[in-house]
Amino acid sequence: SQSLKKSYEGIFDIGAALSVREVNGTDTKVFPILDKHFNSLTPENLMKWGSIHPRLGQYNFEPMDRLVALAEKIDARVIGHTLVWHNQTPDWVYEDENGERLSKDALLQRMEEHIEAVAGRYKGKVFGYDVVNEAFFDDGQYRTSKWYEAAGKDFIKRAFIKTHEVDPDAELYYNDYNMWKPEKTDAAIKLAKELREEGIRIDGIGMQGHYGLDSPSLEIIETAINKIADAGFKVMFTEVDIDVLPNPVNRHGADIDATFPADESYNIYKEGLPEEIQAKLVSRYRELFELFKKHEEKITRITFWGVHDGGSWLNNWPMPGRTAYPLIIDKDYKEKKDIIDALIQI
Ligand code: XIL
Repeated sequence: SQSLKKSYEGIFDIGAALSVREVNGTDTKVFPILDKHFNSLTPENLMKWGSIHPRLGQYNFEPMDRLVALAEKIDARVIGHTLVWHNQTPDWVYEDENGERLSKDALLQRMEEHIEAVAGRYKGKVFGYDVVNEAFFDDGQYRTSKWYEAAGKDFIKRAFIKTHEVDPDAELYYNDYNMWKPEKTDAAIKLAKELREEGIRIDGIGMQGHYGLDSPSLEIIETAINKIADAGFKVMFTEVDIDVLPNPVNRHGADIDATFPADESYNIYKEGLPEEIQAKLVSRYRELFELFKKHEEKITRITFWGVHDGGSWLNNWPMPGRTAYPLIIDKDYKEKKDIIDALIQI
């Protein structure tokens, strides 16, 4: 295949999320793939609080340093994912030395110190930050996270202010899943407008893009793209993958308290993907990229959530023991030529 990043040059960046294995040199086969197709890299986990700041006063920068070095080698932009989130954040973050919950001021101070340390270290090296991730429920209400419980929505504003103060050149984004749900899109836009009206920098809104073969519809995604752009914010698809397996959690509906069968009954394609499903996957990717291209003035980046199928989180989510086919490179590191060719022809 030709290079995806070259064929989309000047249209939007083409990104991939990288795991620890892929940056520490264990998974060497990804390097030529990254070099050929991608000009933007997102740390899949290694910039999350629990990974980069596992204990009070203790930072683990090495994996992220490696990702930055790799990005320099292949001339890719780095996306900082993510500074403030309710998941993959250790309990100590919210507690004092006696295990009591911190006051609003103490928690926000701790958050600011974290941002200062992380964004400070990578100042000038990160193109844009997912400053805050997933602060809303699907119905548009603020998520009742430990951040929200202690600080209300102020934690969001303070996180954006601090990140801008530490790295004034970095773009700043709000990022969330199911951003096609109207209530959620509207809530994120309202937040972004409020920040901007207060003079706080926010450049764009990230739509994660964990999609299925048939849902969400192109129309509903298009409506969200237009709403975000009309409000004056850049749009990016930050975590694209397509789940071909039955998924009881209906996309990234993490708000739903689903129970999962303990057996492998959802692992219906473990022997390989049937031809007709592969064909559906190709056309779903084609339709999505046709939509993205149609809105190229509004969209700045498309990032895939992983490099190859074998490394995809969907092998373990929403339950372990899945054999997932969500990406454009297969588990043997071979390009899915039918998909890549389709994307290049658009
Ligand atoms: C996921 C990673 O892919 C997994 O490896 C990890 O176990 C859990 O987090 N929304 C996000 C991403 O913003 O950070 C999540 O990444 C997927 C959903």
